[in-house]
Amino acid sequence: MHSSLKFTFTFLAVALVAASCSSDDIVYKDASAPVEKRVEDLLKRMTLEEKLLQLNQYTLGMNNIENNLGEAVREIPAEIGSLIYFGDDAILRNKMQHRAMEESRLGIPILFGHDVIHGYRTIFPVPLAQACSWNPELVRQGCAVAAQESYSCGVDWTFSPMVDIARDPRWGRVMEGYGEDPYAASVYCQAAVRGYQGDDLGAENTIAACLKHYVGYGASEAGRDYVPAEISDQTLWDTYLPPFEAGVKAGAATLMSAFHNISGTPASGNHYILTEVLKDKWGHDGFVVSDWDAVVQLKNQGMAADDKEAAEIAFNAGIEMDMVDDLYKKYIPQLLEEGKVKMSQVDEAVRRVLRIKFRLGLFDKPYIEEKPESERYLLPESLDLAERLATESMVLLKNDDGLLPLDIRSRIALIGPLSSVRRDHNGNWYGRGKETDVIPFNEGIAEEFSGRLTVAEGCDFEGDDRSGFARAVAAARESDVAVVCIGHKSRWSGENCSRSTIEIPQIQLDLVRAIKATGTKVVLLVSCGRPVDLHLFEPEADAILLTWHPGTMAGRAVAGILSGRSNPSGKLAITFPYTTGQIPIYYNRRNSGRRGTQGIYKDITSNPMYQFGYGLSYSTFEYGPLTLSSENVSRNGSLQASVTVTNTSSRDGQETVHWFICDPVSRITRPVKELKYFEKQLIPAGESRTFTFDIEPMRDLGFVDRTGRRYLDSGEYHIIVGTQQATITVTD
Ligand code: BGC
Repeated sequence: MHSSLKFTFTFLAVALVAASCSSDDIVYKDASAPVEKRVEDLLKRMTLEEKLLQLNQYTLGMNNIENNLGEAVREIPAEIGSLIYFGDDAILRNKMQHRAMEESRLGIPILFGHDVIHGYRTIFPVPLAQACSWNPELVRQGCAVAAQESYSCGVDWTFSPMVDIARDPRWGRVMEGYGEDPYAASVYCQAAVRGYQGDDLGAENTIAACLKHYVGYGASEAGRDYVPAEISDQTLWDTYLPPFEAGVKAGAATLMSAFHNISGTPASGNHYILTEVLKDKWGHDGFVVSDWDAVVQLKNQGMAADDKEAAEIAFNAGIEMDMVDDLYKKYIPQLLEEGKVKMSQVDEAVRRVLRIKFRLGLFDKPYIEEKPESERYLLPESLDLAERLATESMVLLKNDDGLLPLDIRSRIALIGPLSSVRRDHNGNWYGRGKETDVIPFNEGIAEEFSGRLTVAEGCDFEGDDRSGFARAVAAARESDVAVVCIGHKSRWSGENCSRSTIEIPQIQLDLVRAIKATGTKVVLLVSCGRPVDLHLFEPEADAILLTWHPGTMAGRAVAGILSGRSNPSGKLAITFPYTTGQIPIYYNRRNSGRRGTQGIYKDITSNPMYQFGYGLSYSTFEYGPLTLSSENVSRNGSLQASVTVTNTSSRDGQETVHWFICDPVSRITRPVKELKYFEKQLIPAGESRTFTFDIEPMRDLGFVDRTGRRYLDSGEYHIIVGTQQATITVTD
């Protein structure tokens, strides 16, 4: 007999002897009762089997990424706790929910989860790109749109945001996070959580967030996915944990544990991070879901001898929900009998899952209104937002002699493998996004410019076929400017998409060189989901715009920047290495004992191609002097650092001011500089705006040790903005 059928029959038998729930005063069904009372009331009515099903996550359909394809559609019992849902309307969901509510003994709703990473149907730029906007409010709004679209299609829970700090662009998943900096990732993490969850998890159009992959997954050795990471406790606390802590503080309902092994203890079996830090220290009261099949993978990682032991280790470590590998349901009864798991632990795990279901309002409003497509997604205001976020995410890397913006009457040759594609603009992990929704570059530019547009791809992303070069060269010769769209395919980034090099294939470089040789000005549009090696491209281009994978509104956003309808304002949230050989390279490294030419590469520069925070605008900004409200501050006091920025151009523009600190002497040595605050403001042409950093010493100057204890030393600290530095003294 199929195991789930057997299980269903067991349920029926249990149901016959179980207490009747027909009374009107059932507390857990009373929407006005406090959540904790409802949880306890329901918990005490549940059989062990019913409890365990709350801890098991099934999948309906297939995960849409290659390495998870092949998962069969499973038979779903009415009592299941959660489902990864690949439908894109509420109809199927409601059918399943009716089954859960009406055919299960206690009527516990299913929690429907889905990977809504950078949009559901309206696709926003990949998260790494969004981080370059330095506009957390836009990021919040993007997540709110993603929540509204997915909610109206039957999703309650997204496996996002991913807040893994990543400093190795060979890792394919670098695109899913917010870059290399713990502070920036923390701010974006909070924005995303607020966007998805709103102020009230129970309200319509809000969904539960899931911080992932807890923790340190971005440190996977040499950028290879799933492999172990070597992370010291100090680095765990100062680099990898902060965004998760920020997300927990913002009220994130759930977390997903990571796949990898952290210095000998796999994340899926790591009691320290899952229980001691997350629950005991931070007080998280939601639940942790494992990553896909990660519990059973404890065997491959060498931590568990068999499936049963894998379930025991993961459960005891603090993973409440087992994603798709079914081990909890199978083995916890035995583990209870053997005394390896306690009933109180099972209750606590179920309590955490139920708590989130109650907070989401699933018991009181289990079904989703079945609206027509036109009301569910791609709403005009969502598309406007997608364009704005795409625009603000793009980074102008070079603009010699003010080549950009282009004259609206320019004759443009649009060249390169990304000239007319749609799919690659959605990036990887594109939810339910469709390539047919995407505005490609050629369409966006054709609509924006009144001059002639000639499209000649020239070549594909890779390979040796140069037969299209001649047409592309001819098009460039007959045009005022060649816009050459180069980069990576979207499928080159994402899960299981590690690459040994961050280069762009040689054929694209050859194409750019051939175009440059015509003498026509060259604008490069660079699409990618990771920092790429641009050092050989840079000399061939007059202007370079990093577009990333911009999403649904790709063509319109790019055209707006090319024409000057939009003024670029993105700045890098991750360092662009000069070549792959510099990796890892990031701005907030610690100092070396030897300075100057000691310890640098002898064959290439040791400086990055483009540093963290770099990005140009069509406006020019002048920074006034950095001023302090005081040069001394007591440990519990506060002080303000300010700088006035003037837009000296004739074009309105947005400027982001990054505030860094540096503690030059410390018992635990500190990075050369650390971002502690940033702010973006629109500065109209010719006007000035003041940017202020309100410094709270413990929060902004203090540091954690390897146990997570925060402390603040008295003494001197530097405040850094642009090229200026000021010194303040913290007094006892
Ligand atoms: C990924 C997660 C994702 C999960 C569910 C896993 O393979 O690592 O990020 O949320 O699948 O699709």
